[in-house]
Amino acid sequence: MVKSIILQKIKKTAIQAMIPVIKIRGIIRNFPLGQEIVKVLKGIDLDIERGEYVALMGPSGSGKSTLMNLLGCLDTATAGSYELNGKNVSNMTQDELAEIRNKEIGFVFQTFNLLPRTTALDNVALPMIYAGASKSERITRAEEVLKDVGLADRMDHKPSQLSGGQRQRVAIGRALVNKPSIILADEPTGNLDSKTSLEIMNLFDEIHAQGNTVIVVTHEADVAKHADRIIRLIDGIVTSDEKKKLNNN
Ligand SMILES: Nc1ncnc2c1ncn2[C@@H]1O[C@H](COP(=O)(O)OP(=O)(O)OP(=O)(O)O)[C@@H](O)[C@H]1O
Ligand SMILES: [Mg+2]
Repeated sequence: MVKSIILQKIKKTAIQAMIPVIKIRGIIRNFPLGQEIVKVLKGIDLDIERGEYVALMGPSGSGKSTLMNLLGCLDTATAGSYELNGKNVSNMTQDELAEIRNKEIGFVFQTFNLLPRTTALDNVALPMIYAGASKSERITRAEEVLKDVGLADRMDHKPSQLSGGQRQRVAIGRALVNKPSIILADEPTGNLDSKTSLEIMNLFDEIHAQGNTVIVVTHEADVAKHADRIIRLIDGIVTSDEKKKLNNN
């Protein structure tokens, strides 16, 4: 009995390792605007494997944030399919999407999006409330995550008492706290100076090295070079998709 449960688990893990974390096909996103329809994403196919480190680039208005919002289950497509970890999320209800978002996705925004009157510790612990964790579990885990992002000595600070880089570290901690399948970051260094940007990207490198799948939107080549794969979007279409060549010398 125990043996068969263990075998089932091994089988499930092996299958999960084989399927892409993200599989999208024919994704179209139109926005109605008055009498018109704005066509933003015009048919996107993409597979992202577990553990990949991807930079999403492209001119302003090309649809990067629109695509990230779809990948992060903050929005749904007009047409096309999306499988996250082998689960079809295209036809899920708002409640089901909220649950999958909380469990599987860590989102980091350019403007941090922290609760202003709440401490770093409580900001990080917040997604665990929705996940149903007990108070002591929440505190233990949030403390652990804040230590991992280098903020052991800032746990009781509110966002206004933190620097920009520290705020983004809190936001990254919040994204990691539920151990999601993917970390999505939309211009995470867009509001930071170059030194702080590098520190934040080094943190994403560490998060990736621990086995996480990371997708970062950026305009900056310096940020994109941290990734192993660069996908470019122009006018709602993927125009290039390049993996960094491994240097085996
Ligand atoms: N809710 C909406 N209603 C109408 N049009 C929208 C909506 N959201 C986005 N758009 C349009 O979709 C296009 C793509 O927007 P998006 O925010 O995805 O671009 P982006 O590539 O992230 O740009 P940036 O680099 O400036 O952040 C823009 O032309 C925008 O005006
Ligand atoms: Mg954007």
